Amino acid sequence: MSPAAEAAAAFATVHSSAPSGVWSAPGRVNLIGEHTDYNDGYVLPFALPHRLAAAATRRSDQVLNVATLGSDGKFQYSGNLRIADLSPSDIEGWAAYPAGVAWVMRDHGFDRGADVVIAGDVPSGAGLSSSHALECAVALALLGLSGIELDGDAPGTPTRPEIARWVQRSENDFVGAPTGLLDQTASLCCTESNVLFLDVRSGEMEHVPFDAAAAGMRVLVIDTRAKHSHAEGGYGERRRGTEHAAELLDVKALRDVELADLPSVLKTLPDELGPLVRHVVTENQRVLDTVELLHADRLAEIGPLLDASHESLRDDYRVSSVELDLAVDAAREAGALGARMTGGGFGGSAIALVRAGDAARVEESVSLAFERGGLRRPRVFSAVPSRGAGRDKL
Ligand code: GLA
Repeated sequence: MSPAAEAAAAFATVHSSAPSGVWSAPGRVNLIGEHTDYNDGYVLPFALPHRLAAAATRRSDQVLNVATLGSDGKFQYSGNLRIADLSPSDIEGWAAYPAGVAWVMRDHGFDRGADVVIAGDVPSGAGLSSSHALECAVALALLGLSGIELDGDAPGTPTRPEIARWVQRSENDFVGAPTGLLDQTASLCCTESNVLFLDVRSGEMEHVPFDAAAAGMRVLVIDTRAKHSHAEGGYGERRRGTEHAAELLDVKALRDVELADLPSVLKTLPDELGPLVRHVVTENQRVLDTVELLHADRLAEIGPLLDASHESLRDDYRVSSVELDLAVDAAREAGALGARMTGGGFGGSAIALVRAGDAARVEESVSLAFERGGLRRPRVFSAVPSRGAGRDKL
Protein backbone atom coordinates (compact mmCIF):
# COMPACT_ATOMS: atom_id res chain seq x y z
CA MET A 1 0.00 0.00 0.00
CA SER A 2 1.29 3.50 -0.80
CA PRO A 3 1.86 5.87 2.15
CA ALA A 4 -1.12 7.93 0.91
CA ALA A 5 -3.45 4.91 0.81
CA GLU A 6 -2.13 3.81 4.18
CA ALA A 7 -2.81 7.24 5.70
CA ALA A 8 -6.32 7.31 4.23
CA ALA A 9 -7.04 3.83 5.64
CA ALA A 10 -5.59 4.85 9.02
CA PHE A 11 -7.78 7.97 8.98
CA ALA A 12 -10.85 5.79 8.38
CA THR A 13 -9.84 3.58 11.32
CA VAL A 14 -9.45 6.54 13.70
CA HIS A 15 -12.37 8.72 12.54
CA SER A 16 -14.74 6.23 10.87
CA SER A 17 -14.91 8.42 7.79
CA ALA A 18 -12.83 9.14 4.70
CA PRO A 19 -10.44 12.12 4.82
CA SER A 20 -11.04 15.19 2.63
CA GLY A 21 -7.58 14.75 1.15
CA VAL A 22 -4.10 13.34 1.55
CA TRP A 23 -0.83 15.25 1.21
CA SER A 24 2.59 13.65 1.48
CA ALA A 25 6.24 14.62 1.69
CA PRO A 26 9.43 12.58 1.24
CA GLY A 27 12.46 11.97 3.42
CA ARG A 28 15.82 12.88 1.93
CA VAL A 29 19.47 12.02 1.72
CA ASN A 30 22.08 14.67 1.17
CA LEU A 31 24.54 13.61 -1.53
CA ILE A 32 27.09 16.14 -0.26
CA GLY A 33 27.20 19.55 1.46
CA GLU A 34 26.86 18.82 5.17
CA HIS A 35 26.64 21.45 7.90
CA THR A 36 26.95 24.09 5.21
CA ASP A 37 23.29 25.20 5.16
CA TYR A 38 23.39 27.32 8.32
CA ASN A 39 26.65 28.82 7.06
CA ASP A 40 24.90 30.25 3.98
CA GLY A 41 26.57 27.60 1.80
CA TYR A 42 25.69 24.93 -0.77
CA VAL A 43 23.83 21.63 -0.40
CA LEU A 44 22.97 18.82 -2.83
CA PRO A 45 20.16 16.60 -1.51
CA PHE A 46 17.69 14.32 -3.24
CA ALA A 47 14.27 13.14 -2.12
CA LEU A 48 13.82 9.50 -1.15
CA PRO A 49 10.98 7.34 -2.46
CA HIS A 50 9.97 6.99 1.21
CA ARG A 51 7.20 9.37 2.25
CA LEU A 52 5.00 10.37 5.15
CA ALA A 53 1.40 11.12 4.25
CA ALA A 54 -1.08 13.28 6.15
CA ALA A 55 -4.74 12.36 5.63
CA ALA A 56 -6.86 15.24 6.87
CA THR A 57 -10.29 16.75 7.27
CA ARG A 58 -11.27 20.20 8.45
CA ARG A 59 -12.90 20.60 11.86
CA SER A 60 -15.46 23.22 12.73
CA ASP A 61 -13.50 24.35 15.82
CA GLN A 62 -9.90 25.57 16.08
CA VAL A 63 -8.44 22.35 17.37
CA LEU A 64 -5.64 20.33 15.82
CA ASN A 65 -5.89 16.63 16.47
CA VAL A 66 -3.13 14.40 15.11
CA ALA A 67 -2.73 10.65 15.22
CA THR A 68 0.30 8.89 13.83
CA LEU A 69 0.54 5.25 12.83
CA GLY A 70 3.90 3.77 13.83
CA SER A 71 5.80 1.02 12.05
CA ASP A 72 4.65 -1.28 14.91
CA GLY A 73 1.05 -0.80 13.73
CA LYS A 74 0.14 1.23 16.84
CA PHE A 75 -1.33 4.72 16.89
CA GLN A 76 -0.06 7.59 18.98
CA TYR A 77 -2.40 10.50 19.65
CA SER A 78 -1.64 14.17 20.21
CA GLY A 79 -4.98 14.77 21.88
CA ASN A 80 -6.88 17.97 21.17
CA LEU A 81 -4.52 20.93 20.74
CA ARG A 82 -6.19 24.33 20.71
CA ILE A 83 -4.44 26.25 17.95
CA ALA A 84 -4.96 29.61 19.68
CA ASP A 85 -3.22 28.33 22.82
CA LEU A 86 -0.17 26.77 21.19
CA SER A 87 3.05 28.11 22.58
CA PRO A 88 6.69 26.96 22.26
CA SER A 89 7.98 24.28 24.63
CA ASP A 90 4.47 23.40 25.89
CA ILE A 91 4.35 20.20 23.91
CA GLU A 92 6.89 17.41 24.11
CA GLY A 93 7.76 14.48 21.88
CA TRP A 94 6.61 13.91 18.30
CA ALA A 95 3.43 16.03 18.65
CA ALA A 96 5.61 19.17 18.90
CA TYR A 97 6.36 18.82 15.16
CA PRO A 98 2.80 19.09 13.80
CA ALA A 99 1.90 21.54 16.58
CA GLY A 100 4.87 23.76 15.61
CA VAL A 101 3.67 23.86 12.02
CA ALA A 102 0.16 24.87 13.12
CA TRP A 103 1.71 27.51 15.41
CA VAL A 104 3.62 29.13 12.53
CA MET A 105 0.72 28.84 10.11
CA ARG A 106 -1.56 30.58 12.62
CA ASP A 107 0.63 33.66 12.11
CA HIS A 108 0.04 33.41 8.37
CA GLY A 109 -3.71 33.36 8.84
CA PHE A 110 -4.28 29.60 8.71
CA ASP A 111 -5.85 28.88 12.06
CA ARG A 112 -8.67 26.49 11.29
CA GLY A 113 -8.80 23.17 13.12
CA ALA A 114 -8.13 19.81 11.50
CA ASP A 115 -8.10 16.09 12.17
CA VAL A 116 -4.90 14.67 10.74
CA VAL A 117 -3.70 11.08 10.57
CA ILE A 118 -0.11 10.38 9.54
CA ALA A 119 1.29 7.19 8.07
CA GLY A 120 4.18 6.26 5.82
CA ASP A 121 7.53 4.61 5.51
CA VAL A 122 10.27 7.15 6.27
CA PRO A 123 12.22 5.46 9.07
CA SER A 124 12.29 7.69 12.14
CA GLY A 125 15.53 8.62 13.93
CA ALA A 126 17.52 7.39 10.92
CA GLY A 127 18.79 10.82 9.83
CA LEU A 128 16.56 10.65 6.75
CA SER A 129 14.42 13.63 7.76
CA SER A 130 11.27 11.89 8.89
CA SER A 131 10.46 14.87 11.11
CA HIS A 132 10.68 17.24 8.15
CA ALA A 133 8.58 14.93 6.00
CA LEU A 134 5.96 15.01 8.74
CA GLU A 135 6.11 18.79 9.10
CA CYS A 136 5.92 19.40 5.36
CA ALA A 137 3.02 16.97 4.90
CA VAL A 138 1.12 18.65 7.75
CA ALA A 139 1.82 22.12 6.33
CA LEU A 140 0.45 21.08 2.94
CA ALA A 141 -2.57 19.43 4.55
CA LEU A 142 -3.42 22.57 6.55
CA LEU A 143 -3.01 24.70 3.43
CA GLY A 144 -5.00 22.26 1.31
CA LEU A 145 -7.89 22.23 3.79
CA SER A 146 -8.00 26.02 3.34
CA GLY A 147 -8.27 25.58 -0.41
CA ILE A 148 -4.65 26.32 -1.21
CA GLU A 149 -2.60 23.79 -3.15
CA LEU A 150 1.10 23.99 -3.91
CA ASP A 151 1.94 25.62 -7.22
CA GLY A 152 -1.70 26.70 -7.54
CA ASP A 153 -2.89 30.18 -8.43
CA ALA A 154 -5.20 30.89 -5.48
CA PRO A 155 -4.41 34.31 -3.98
CA GLY A 156 -2.00 34.00 -1.06
CA THR A 157 -0.51 30.72 -2.26
CA PRO A 158 2.95 30.46 -0.69
CA THR A 159 5.87 29.17 -2.74
CA ARG A 160 7.64 25.95 -1.83
CA PRO A 161 10.70 27.84 -0.47
CA GLU A 162 8.38 30.01 1.63
CA ILE A 163 6.81 26.92 3.18
CA ALA A 164 10.33 25.59 3.82
CA ARG A 165 11.00 28.78 5.84
CA TRP A 166 7.78 28.30 7.82
CA VAL A 167 8.78 24.75 8.64
CA GLN A 168 12.26 25.89 9.63
CA ARG A 169 10.75 28.48 11.96
CA SER A 170 8.49 25.88 13.57
CA GLU A 171 11.47 23.63 14.13
CA ASN A 172 13.78 26.38 15.45
CA ASP A 173 11.34 28.35 17.54
CA PHE A 174 8.68 25.82 18.58
CA VAL A 175 10.44 22.45 18.72
CA GLY A 176 13.73 24.04 19.77
CA ALA A 177 16.03 22.35 17.23
CA PRO A 178 18.40 24.93 15.69
CA THR A 179 18.46 23.29 12.24
CA GLY A 180 19.07 24.92 8.84
CA LEU A 181 17.08 24.85 5.61
CA LEU A 182 18.41 21.70 3.96
CA ASP A 183 15.81 19.16 4.91
CA GLN A 184 12.58 21.10 4.44
CA THR A 185 13.75 22.49 1.13
CA ALA A 186 14.72 19.00 -0.04
CA SER A 187 11.35 17.56 0.95
CA LEU A 188 9.42 20.38 -0.74
CA CYS A 189 11.52 21.26 -3.76
CA CYS A 190 13.25 18.07 -4.97
CA THR A 191 12.12 16.48 -8.21
CA GLU A 192 12.25 12.97 -9.61
CA SER A 193 15.58 11.91 -11.23
CA ASN A 194 17.45 15.02 -10.02
CA VAL A 195 19.56 16.18 -7.14
CA LEU A 196 18.80 19.67 -5.89
CA PHE A 197 21.71 22.11 -5.99
CA LEU A 198 20.71 24.81 -3.55
CA ASP A 199 22.60 27.97 -2.74
CA VAL A 200 21.18 28.64 0.71
CA ARG A 201 22.27 32.28 0.73
CA SER A 202 20.61 33.34 -2.48
CA GLY A 203 17.89 30.69 -2.50
CA GLU A 204 18.85 29.82 -6.08
CA MET A 205 18.13 26.25 -7.06
CA GLU A 206 19.11 24.00 -9.89
CA HIS A 207 17.77 20.51 -10.54
CA VAL A 208 20.80 18.53 -11.66
CA PRO A 209 20.11 15.18 -13.40
CA PHE A 210 21.35 12.24 -11.33
CA ASP A 211 20.80 8.86 -12.92
CA ALA A 212 23.05 6.42 -11.11
CA ALA A 213 21.43 3.40 -12.80
CA ALA A 214 22.19 4.73 -16.28
CA ALA A 215 25.83 5.05 -15.21
CA GLY A 216 25.76 1.42 -13.99
CA MET A 217 25.68 2.48 -10.37
CA ARG A 218 23.57 2.59 -7.24
CA VAL A 219 23.40 4.83 -4.21
CA LEU A 220 23.06 2.63 -1.14
CA VAL A 221 21.59 4.13 2.00
CA ILE A 222 22.88 2.45 5.16
CA ASP A 223 20.71 3.18 8.19
CA THR A 224 22.97 2.30 11.12
CA ARG A 225 19.94 2.23 13.47
CA ALA A 226 21.93 4.30 15.95
CA LYS A 227 19.44 7.01 16.81
CA HIS A 228 20.24 10.67 16.40
CA SER A 229 18.49 13.84 17.50
CA HIS A 230 19.20 17.47 16.71
CA ALA A 231 17.34 18.97 19.63
CA GLU A 232 20.31 17.78 21.71
CA GLY A 233 23.63 19.51 22.29
CA GLY A 234 26.15 18.54 19.59
CA TYR A 235 24.45 20.10 16.59
CA GLY A 236 23.78 23.44 18.30
CA GLU A 237 27.31 23.54 19.64
CA ARG A 238 28.76 23.15 16.12
CA ARG A 239 26.41 25.77 14.81
CA ARG A 240 27.37 28.27 17.49
CA GLY A 241 31.06 27.50 16.85
CA THR A 242 30.77 28.40 13.17
CA GLU A 243 28.76 31.54 13.95
CA HIS A 244 31.35 32.62 16.47
CA ALA A 245 34.14 32.00 13.92
CA ALA A 246 32.29 34.13 11.36
CA GLU A 247 32.07 36.92 13.94
CA LEU A 248 35.78 36.71 14.70
CA LEU A 249 36.56 36.81 10.99
CA ASP A 250 34.16 39.69 10.51
CA VAL A 251 32.17 38.00 7.76
CA LYS A 252 28.42 37.50 7.54
CA ALA A 253 28.79 33.71 7.36
CA LEU A 254 31.55 31.18 6.71
CA ARG A 255 30.34 31.06 3.13
CA ASP A 256 32.33 34.26 2.69
CA VAL A 257 35.69 32.64 3.46
CA GLU A 258 37.55 31.82 0.23
CA LEU A 259 39.24 28.45 -0.08
CA ALA A 260 42.47 30.18 -1.12
CA ASP A 261 42.45 32.25 2.09
CA LEU A 262 41.96 29.25 4.35
CA PRO A 263 45.62 28.79 5.41
CA SER A 264 45.96 32.39 6.56
CA VAL A 265 42.47 32.48 8.10
CA LEU A 266 43.21 29.36 10.16
CA LYS A 267 46.26 31.03 11.72
CA THR A 268 44.07 33.73 13.23
CA LEU A 269 41.45 31.46 14.81
CA PRO A 270 41.42 29.76 18.21
CA ASP A 271 42.38 26.07 17.99
CA GLU A 272 38.90 24.77 18.62
CA LEU A 273 37.31 26.79 15.79
CA GLY A 274 39.86 26.21 13.01
CA PRO A 275 38.74 22.68 12.12
CA LEU A 276 35.07 23.73 11.98
CA VAL A 277 35.91 26.49 9.53
CA ARG A 278 38.12 24.19 7.46
CA HIS A 279 35.24 21.73 7.15
CA VAL A 280 32.68 24.28 6.03
CA VAL A 281 34.95 25.99 3.51
CA THR A 282 36.24 22.76 1.96
CA GLU A 283 32.78 21.17 1.98
CA ASN A 284 31.31 24.06 0.01
CA GLN A 285 34.03 23.52 -2.59
CA ARG A 286 33.27 19.78 -2.68
CA VAL A 287 29.63 20.55 -3.50
CA LEU A 288 30.70 22.79 -6.38
CA ASP A 289 33.12 20.11 -7.61
CA THR A 290 30.43 17.43 -7.42
CA VAL A 291 28.00 19.55 -9.41
CA GLU A 292 30.66 20.18 -12.02
CA LEU A 293 31.28 16.43 -12.42
CA LEU A 294 27.54 15.74 -12.68
CA HIS A 295 27.18 18.44 -15.33
CA ALA A 296 30.00 16.76 -17.25
CA ASP A 297 28.22 13.39 -17.00
CA ARG A 298 31.02 12.00 -14.82
CA LEU A 299 28.93 10.63 -11.97
CA ALA A 300 31.30 7.69 -11.36
CA GLU A 301 34.05 10.15 -10.43
CA ILE A 302 32.34 11.78 -7.45
CA GLY A 303 33.45 8.96 -5.09
CA PRO A 304 36.63 10.68 -3.80
CA LEU A 305 34.61 13.82 -2.98
CA LEU A 306 32.19 11.73 -0.90
CA ASP A 307 35.15 10.12 0.89
CA ALA A 308 36.78 13.49 1.57
CA SER A 309 33.49 14.85 2.90
CA HIS A 310 33.24 11.99 5.37
CA GLU A 311 36.81 12.43 6.56
CA SER A 312 36.24 16.13 7.08
CA LEU A 313 33.02 15.50 9.03
CA ARG A 314 34.74 12.82 11.10
CA ASP A 315 38.02 14.56 11.86
CA ASP A 316 37.34 18.30 11.60
CA TYR A 317 33.65 18.69 12.35
CA ARG A 318 33.55 15.64 14.65
CA VAL A 319 29.93 14.70 14.05
CA SER A 320 30.43 11.11 12.90
CA SER A 321 29.98 8.08 15.16
CA VAL A 322 31.47 4.61 15.57
CA GLU A 323 28.59 3.11 13.57
CA LEU A 324 28.83 5.66 10.74
CA ASP A 325 32.59 5.20 10.45
CA LEU A 326 32.16 1.45 10.43
CA ALA A 327 29.51 1.62 7.69
CA VAL A 328 31.66 3.92 5.56
CA ASP A 329 34.89 1.94 6.04
CA ALA A 330 33.24 -1.44 5.41
CA ALA A 331 31.50 -0.12 2.27
CA ARG A 332 34.76 1.25 0.91
CA GLU A 333 36.68 -1.94 1.68
CA ALA A 334 34.03 -3.92 -0.19
CA GLY A 335 34.51 -1.78 -3.29
CA ALA A 336 32.29 1.30 -2.89
CA LEU A 337 33.52 4.15 -5.09
CA GLY A 338 32.86 6.59 -2.26
CA ALA A 339 30.92 6.73 1.00
CA ARG A 340 30.01 9.24 3.66
CA MET A 341 27.68 9.92 6.55
CA THR A 342 24.63 11.90 5.45
CA GLY A 343 22.57 14.40 7.44
CA GLY A 344 23.49 15.95 10.78
CA GLY A 345 25.44 12.96 12.13
CA PHE A 346 25.84 11.60 15.67
CA GLY A 347 24.14 8.43 14.39
CA GLY A 348 21.68 8.02 11.54
CA SER A 349 22.60 6.98 8.02
CA ALA A 350 25.51 6.78 5.58
CA ILE A 351 25.43 6.60 1.79
CA ALA A 352 27.71 4.65 -0.52
CA LEU A 353 28.13 4.98 -4.27
CA VAL A 354 28.64 1.47 -5.67
CA ARG A 355 28.80 -0.24 -9.05
CA ALA A 356 25.48 -2.01 -9.58
CA GLY A 357 27.21 -5.40 -9.68
CA ASP A 358 28.89 -4.75 -6.31
CA ALA A 359 25.75 -3.63 -4.45
CA ALA A 360 24.89 -7.00 -2.88
CA ARG A 361 28.49 -7.61 -1.83
CA VAL A 362 28.84 -4.17 -0.27
CA GLU A 363 25.56 -4.62 1.61
CA GLU A 364 26.65 -8.02 2.91
CA SER A 365 30.10 -6.77 3.95
CA VAL A 366 28.63 -3.84 5.85
CA SER A 367 26.19 -6.13 7.64
CA LEU A 368 28.97 -8.56 8.53
CA ALA A 369 31.14 -5.75 9.88
CA PHE A 370 28.25 -4.69 12.14
CA GLU A 371 27.70 -8.25 13.34
CA ARG A 372 31.37 -8.64 14.12
CA GLY A 373 31.28 -5.38 16.05
CA GLY A 374 28.35 -6.69 18.11
CA LEU A 375 25.98 -4.15 16.52
CA ARG A 376 22.45 -4.54 15.17
CA ARG A 377 22.26 -5.33 11.46
CA PRO A 378 21.88 -2.03 9.58
CA ARG A 379 18.98 -1.47 7.20
CA VAL A 380 20.34 -1.05 3.66
CA PHE A 381 18.41 0.02 0.58
CA SER A 382 19.22 1.56 -2.75
CA ALA A 383 17.70 5.00 -3.37
CA VAL A 384 16.77 6.94 -6.49
CA PRO A 385 15.90 10.66 -6.56
CA SER A 386 12.13 10.91 -6.17
CA ARG A 387 9.41 13.56 -6.33
CA GLY A 388 8.98 16.26 -3.72
CA ALA A 389 5.96 16.98 -1.52
CA GLY A 390 2.46 17.36 -2.93
CA ARG A 391 -1.16 16.35 -2.84
CA ASP A 392 -1.87 12.66 -3.48
CA LYS A 393 -4.57 11.29 -5.69
CA LEU A 394 -6.42 8.45 -4.07
C1 GLA B 1 20.38 18.28 9.85
C2 GLA B 1 19.73 19.66 9.78
C3 GLA B 1 20.07 20.35 8.46
C4 GLA B 1 21.56 20.34 8.18
C5 GLA B 1 22.13 18.94 8.37
C6 GLA B 1 23.63 18.92 8.25
O1 GLA B 1 19.83 17.42 8.92
O2 GLA B 1 18.33 19.55 9.91
O3 GLA B 1 19.56 21.67 8.48
O4 GLA B 1 22.23 21.28 8.95
O5 GLA B 1 21.79 18.40 9.63
O6 GLA B 1 24.02 19.19 6.95
